[in-house]
Amino acid sequence: MLSSDMSAHDSATDAERISLLDVPALRADTPGCVNVNHLNNAGCGLMATPVLSAVLDHLNLEAAIGGYEAAAARAEEVRGFYAQIAALINARPENIAFSGSATHAYATALSSIPFEPGEVILTTRNDFVSNQIAFLSLRKRMGVRVVHAPDLPEGGVDLDAMAALIREHRPRLVSATHIPTNSGLVQPVAAIGDLCRDADALYLVDACQSVGQYPVDVQRIGADMLTATCRKFLRGPRGSGFLYVSDRVLAEGYEPLFVDMHGARWTAPDRYEPAPTAARFEEWEFPYATLLGCAAAARYAQQVGLAAIAERTPALAARLRSGLAGLPGVRVLDRGAELGALVTFAIAGWRPEPFKAAMDARGINSALSHREFAQFDFTEKDVDWCLRLSPHYYNTEEEIDEAIAAVADLAA
Ligand SMILES: Cc1ncc(COP(=O)(O)O)c(C=O)c1O
Repeated sequence: MLSSDMSAHDSATDAERISLLDVPALRADTPGCVNVNHLNNAGCGLMATPVLSAVLDHLNLEAAIGGYEAAAARAEEVRGFYAQIAALINARPENIAFSGSATHAYATALSSIPFEPGEVILTTRNDFVSNQIAFLSLRKRMGVRVVHAPDLPEGGVDLDAMAALIREHRPRLVSATHIPTNSGLVQPVAAIGDLCRDADALYLVDACQSVGQYPVDVQRIGADMLTATCRKFLRGPRGSGFLYVSDRVLAEGYEPLFVDMHGARWTAPDRYEPAPTAARFEEWEFPYATLLGCAAAARYAQQVGLAAIAERTPALAARLRSGLAGLPGVRVLDRGAELGALVTFAIAGWRPEPFKAAMDARGINSALSHREFAQFDFTEKDVDWCLRLSPHYYNTEEEIDEAIAAVADLAA
């Protein structure tokens, strides 16, 4: 759908990118679109009808015939979750574990690495807050060292510096967040993967904000492990995520610190045998309705087309960014060679909660980011908080312009 009034955004290329999808049809499939201008997809995307139906149908079945019986009746569809997620990220179903959140998947992955005191975790200054806290916790308990690669002056990790740090420290683990929660930055995760392969370092990628927004290919990235959540740009239900683990990770015997009766078999009173697949990173209990919703969301994203999504979504964000950049009292904070669909800005003269409430009152969904979410990034940008707007492909150009007008009004 090409808008006739592209005045806020004068690049023909971006206009062409924005036009790739049948947005009215996609909105008709998204019940929430009639209620809100939802620019909080980096928080939680609006579910599409097939996703909602998959969740509700299964809950209804559980109520009708019993929870265990419903899971047995839907066993094939449950297996389909692994195939759908595998297809989404170019993996095999055996390499996928369901998880209740990206954070749980990440902690489970970290717990599988038998760190020795003094070993190095090499990461970036834009890794997700909870990952950074987990590294500090490992430092406290296991005595690992946490090293942060510096950023380039224009934003984003400095790959040459990272290569030098890999040579210097021979890290036990390299970790990078593809798109951080606190800015539009897209990190060069495939290039980092090349560095890890050359050095034979274990590589863990947080793809929470990129899955569903971009094609994510674990082979191209060269990830040994990759985590994501399903509720954000993938538009799945809350309480769902997944962990990818490579064949190498499985073959080398990595297993979480706590494995349960689903992840392993108790083969003798003093022995257990971990599952041969990524199931060893899962637990026995599953929210089956949520898992089926997740599978539906992955199928839906692939039907819409990740390439088209990756064209339209960042282009809408670029339109938003350029509209906000022209407003007095507004400072757009996103920096880096490549920017995705998270748009962050500071606004003079406002406190965070009243500003978000004023956006809420206009029917525009947004999110606040605070310095505690981004100690390095926000210190460098000299901000204590910012507002984050994150469009998705089903948002319209008019909704973007409405948000720009709302911020202009509030800034004035
Ligand atoms: C980059 C990134 N990683 C991880 C997470 C955590 O995801 P979850 O809340 O599913 O644990 C988030 C959530 O905002 C995120 O933005």
